[in-house]
Amino acid sequence: AREKKAEVNRHQQVLEKAQARYLSLLRESQEAIAYLKQRGITGKTAKTFGLGWAGHDRSGLKQVFEHYEDPLLTEAGLVIESDDGRRYDRFRERIMFPIVNARGNLIGFGGRIIGKGEPKYLNSPETPLFNKGQELYGLWENRQGIRQEGCVLVVEGYMDVVGLAQQDIGFAVATLGTATTPQHIQKLLRTSDRIVFSFDGDGAGRRAAWKALNVCLPFLRDDISLRFLFLPDDHDPDSFVRAEGPEAFRKQVAQSKVLSTFLLEELASRHNMSEAEGRAACLHEARPLITAIPASGIRTQIENDFAKLVSLTSAELLADLARFEETVQK
Ligand code: CTP
Ligand code: MN
Ligand code: MN
Ligand code: MN
Ligand code: MN
Repeated sequence: AREKKAEVNRHQQVLEKAQARYLSLLRESQEAIAYLKQRGITGKTAKTFGLGWAGHDRSGLKQVFEHYEDPLLTEAGLVIESDDGRRYDRFRERIMFPIVNARGNLIGFGGRIIGKGEPKYLNSPETPLFNKGQELYGLWENRQGIRQEGCVLVVEGYMDVVGLAQQDIGFAVATLGTATTPQHIQKLLRTSDRIVFSFDGDGAGRRAAWKALNVCLPFLRDDISLRFLFLPDDHDPDSFVRAEGPEAFRKQVAQSKVLSTFLLEELASRHNMSEAEGRAACLHEARPLITAIPASGIRTQIENDFAKLVSLTSAELLADLARFEETVQK
């Protein structure tokens, strides 16, 4: 355990050193500053999130690491070794987003390319310190905003978190290019009892919201609030708040859908509810979802509303679900 801790410490020191370099490169780079300006980000917000710039050099980190060949740099994901043994910086020509854990310790980076180039976003690789399925970008930086608002907003991207904070919506967090996981939900519920998911207003965003709903079901309780916000016109939270302003965004949050409405509307939309076969297929799809919800007032409410949707009495639905739960247990 002590060895592990020592390794983590060395790892963190390496990341901190790189972070200091990225910060100072941003201060000197007119093009990186111009990029952030063009996206509406001020120096103050850049500072809050510790934004940096990775520079153009193929091995720019040589300037700060005396031993560029140190395996620690590759393990930390800062340096890549190609097949012919040549080493180069993982992050170049990117705006750098430092990622810290819930205790405020630096554990990795996300980087957005300036201008054209693939991939648009690049993250640190998974390391003993950095587990993408567990961490939430912005949770540390926005911890006070989340507490004040009594609500946490879950968005897709780094720039959504930063762009919202720029407009005084300082209670957003983002998953790190992964789907929402049970660990995310647990972490979020430890932070706030109100969660609003606001994914991009495109097909991918809608699918991500549905997946998030599925992950939420086992965590439902009567004293928490889970809502889903669907932005219009292919907007993401960052583009929406820039186009329409913070008041309009807050209005969208206030008008977001409660989980039960999203669940029932989505289930109904997938089937032809005017035919017995369609309603049966809808029931088939709903069984594992409803039975994933712990016994609670909200489960009873959803059962009652769903029964009406598929033209059953509540008693008929409950008997059906009980049979289903029995066969699943066997
Ligand atoms: N992402 C990623 N790799 C990509 C594209 C996206 O890991 N090639 C992740 C990033 O975490 C990103 C998030 O998915 O922040 C959302 O993607 P997208 O909507 O494309 O990013 P935006 O934040 O909208 O990017 P931008 O506004 O900078 O164009
Ligand atoms: Mn998107
Ligand atoms: Mn965007
Ligand atoms: Mn987006
Ligand atoms: Mn985008």
